[in-house]
Amino acid sequence: MAHAHHLPDGFLWGASTSAHQTEGGNTNSDWWQFEHMQTPIIKEPSGDACDSYHRWREDMDLLSELGFTDYRFGIEWARIEPAPGEFSRAAIAHYRRMVEGAQERGLRPLVTLHHFTTPRWFMERGGWAAAGSDELFTRYLTAAAPVYATGVDHVCTINEPNMVAVMAAVQRAHLSGEAPPTTGMPLPDGATTEALVRAHARAVETVKSCVPHVRTGWSVANQAYQTLPGAEDAAAPVRRQWEDVFLEAARGDDWLGVQSYTRTRIGPDGVLPVPEDAERTLSGWEFYPRALGQAVRDSAALAPGVPLIVTENGIATADDTRRIQYTSEALDSLTSAMNDGIDVRGYFHWSALDNYEWGRYAPTFGLIAVDRETFARTPKPSAAWLGAMGRRPILSPREGL
Ligand code: FCB
Repeated sequence: MAHAHHLPDGFLWGASTSAHQTEGGNTNSDWWQFEHMQTPIIKEPSGDACDSYHRWREDMDLLSELGFTDYRFGIEWARIEPAPGEFSRAAIAHYRRMVEGAQERGLRPLVTLHHFTTPRWFMERGGWAAAGSDELFTRYLTAAAPVYATGVDHVCTINEPNMVAVMAAVQRAHLSGEAPPTTGMPLPDGATTEALVRAHARAVETVKSCVPHVRTGWSVANQAYQTLPGAEDAAAPVRRQWEDVFLEAARGDDWLGVQSYTRTRIGPDGVLPVPEDAERTLSGWEFYPRALGQAVRDSAALAPGVPLIVTENGIATADDTRRIQYTSEALDSLTSAMNDGIDVRGYFHWSALDNYEWGRYAPTFGLIAVDRETFARTPKPSAAWLGAMGRRPILSPREGL
């Protein structure tokens, strides 16, 4: 079959979640605090989220029954280190049970060590840009080493450092009363970028000194930039500060995470809004599934020779047939990049569950619906469709449509 895509042996096939967005009751985190401030970014607090802190077994049962062989989930620094230097043995044991639980169900865990949230005390002392933040991060990773000591092949040090640095810029503007940019998002905060690059390098060293066989990397929010003719000058600083510096920091890593949802067009005056006539998803982003193929190509160009793992890709929609359509086209663009020689080792769909989307629940990215009152889980047709590909040695994204 000429159109069948042969995925390499051992290709990771999974779905993704993060701790704060699914666990619920993450009361000691900076985000919980932020969710209870008056800001237009927050429509509703995370509250109980998906109650996955208690229901993680159910989540894993479903993913494994659906056919997935891999699961990306996060551990929560705010729970593991509730006060500076004070570590919770119970929280570490909890995450260790999750690693073992995944293995028992035939799911290989990819563990994220930091996914947007920090303990409140870390934010109160100045966040990433404050002196000594990398030291504190590595102390937490050392304490958490029992979680990834065995049974974990891949850890992600920091999820979307570029978004973390953008959020720091938003927060700085908010605190100092600066006017927010009129279109799009601000450039990442420079001091935060530098601190994150440093923290990543130290985290890699720390994780490897604790558990030498673990393969370390970080996951960058890829923008799939498209520069219009004549806009090269406007595009250069945006591309550099938003993306390239973070991709270049992955050179020499064991793998690089690619997270892709849509494209970003740049005109002579900067980032362009989504075209009027374009279909928008529930997150407000342009429906543009082929961004994924570009994202892996751009990542490979900036971090040559580093194996790539798609750690997030998906769509916020209430129409599950649109999810299948989106994912099918995204996988098509991915496999054609792979056929051109781009070294991709895995694909994780965002998200396993409908979950807390940083300020609101409305943008539903899940393969599995979660009842907001009973927490009952209901896999959507897309979950069965995508999961079933994990059981086959030869995958064709078009099959099953
Ligand atoms: C990414 C985040 C993830 C989720 C998706 C939609 O920026 O890493 O937590 O919110 O977007």
